[in-house]
Amino acid sequence: MTTESPAPTLPDHEIPTLSLDELRHLQTERLRERVSAAYARVPHYKAAFDAAGVTPEEIQSLEDLSKLPFLTKADLRDNYPFGMFAVPRTEVVRIHASSGTTGRPTVVGYTRQDVDTWADLMARSIRFAGGGPGDVIHVAYGYGLFTGGLGAHYGAERLGATVVPVSGGMTERQVQLIRDFGATVIMVTPSYFLSLIDQMEAEGTDPRSTSLRVGIFGAEPWTESMRREIEQRTGMDAVDIYGLSEVMGPGVAQEAATTKDGLHLWEDHFYPEIIDPVTEEVLPDGELGELVLTCLTKQAQPVIRYRTRDLTRLLPGTAVPSMRRMEKITGRSDDMMIVRGVNVFPTQIEEFVLADRRLSPYFQCVLTQPGRMVELTVLVEPIEALSPADAEAIARRLQHEIKTNIGTTCRVEVRAPGSIERSVGKARRIVDERPKS
Ligand code: DLL
Repeated sequence: MTTESPAPTLPDHEIPTLSLDELRHLQTERLRERVSAAYARVPHYKAAFDAAGVTPEEIQSLEDLSKLPFLTKADLRDNYPFGMFAVPRTEVVRIHASSGTTGRPTVVGYTRQDVDTWADLMARSIRFAGGGPGDVIHVAYGYGLFTGGLGAHYGAERLGATVVPVSGGMTERQVQLIRDFGATVIMVTPSYFLSLIDQMEAEGTDPRSTSLRVGIFGAEPWTESMRREIEQRTGMDAVDIYGLSEVMGPGVAQEAATTKDGLHLWEDHFYPEIIDPVTEEVLPDGELGELVLTCLTKQAQPVIRYRTRDLTRLLPGTAVPSMRRMEKITGRSDDMMIVRGVNVFPTQIEEFVLADRRLSPYFQCVLTQPGRMVELTVLVEPIEALSPADAEAIARRLQHEIKTNIGTTCRVEVRAPGSIERSVGKARRIVDERPKS
């Protein structure tokens, strides 16, 4: 590794051109500084490093990172609301929070510099996705404590685009505004975008005829089959954006419109590792495991080795050669259903639902436990009403495909068109009806 100073870098909103040496050098410097700050200013990190018997001085290289303990969502909750801050509260200019499934939300704080970096990284992400100054960017991610709306908003402004801050909901009005304002880029969850396309079709508008050119879809897992479905129905480029509030919000990783081959992690600000979620051992690039992220620049709330629960693998850089890509996320480890000993993710089910042109892309996985065994029922709906015999044939075929390809025995229920729950944000793919123990 070179010890020279890194070459002057481009502004953060530009697509990075650092060489690998320059990048590793920058990451090492930033890591050392952030680890020292975390230890000196956040009691949680001091206690955790002390308990692991490691001092900040021992962290000299990126390889040393593995000596440090992980940070989990439980640690963030235990320090609710402001216990993880490394700066006085008066220097925190923004708070976001993600609602946990139980109890306290997870709080994240940003200094002025943090919101500035975030806007830069979102501007970079939108540019990478094929957007640019002059675009009309329709933001249908929710505004509020969720990071999607405001994250997209400030990035689009930083890029020099015209932002339309619609937030989620009021589907008819969304479609009207896309049409009237001539939106060229839309930022929204892929599942809610499907509802927008349905609405256009219901109003007699061909979704291919709108001014929309690029969709920047994230905040939930979606598959290559879903990309094909959206691109075929709209003629747009559909690209993936990843992020999480604990680490920043959207804009941690972005897929390039030119390659559509997974998401480039913005490694000048986030250092990725993949671990085996059970043994917690660091895995080599290319292997599937849990993504662990370290923030190299976040000021208000240092994030060292955060266990995201997201499952993916790291791949070599393409559109940005020095920065690694992550494969589209398979799912969260929390979303892994274990049905009769077989691990199943909703994304695996999605592939088979979308393969049948008679079915709409909406589906849900319902888990029940009538006796000792967990049972999975997949709810699907046809685009148009079917005869009972056709519905039965579809259910049988899907059950068979899931059994043959994923190895899981399940029941498939074909419901009435339009009857499966729609969401205006993240779709609820798993409905857990098992008795609470
Ligand atoms: O969902 C931030 C975001 C907003 C990302 C808009 C992209 C677009 P949280 O609410 O904290 O933040 O949820 C983070 O959502 O750990 C993943 O499990 C999931 N997730 C986010 N993006 C993707 C994606 C935002 N592209 C959690 N693919 C993460 C799959 C995603 N899952």
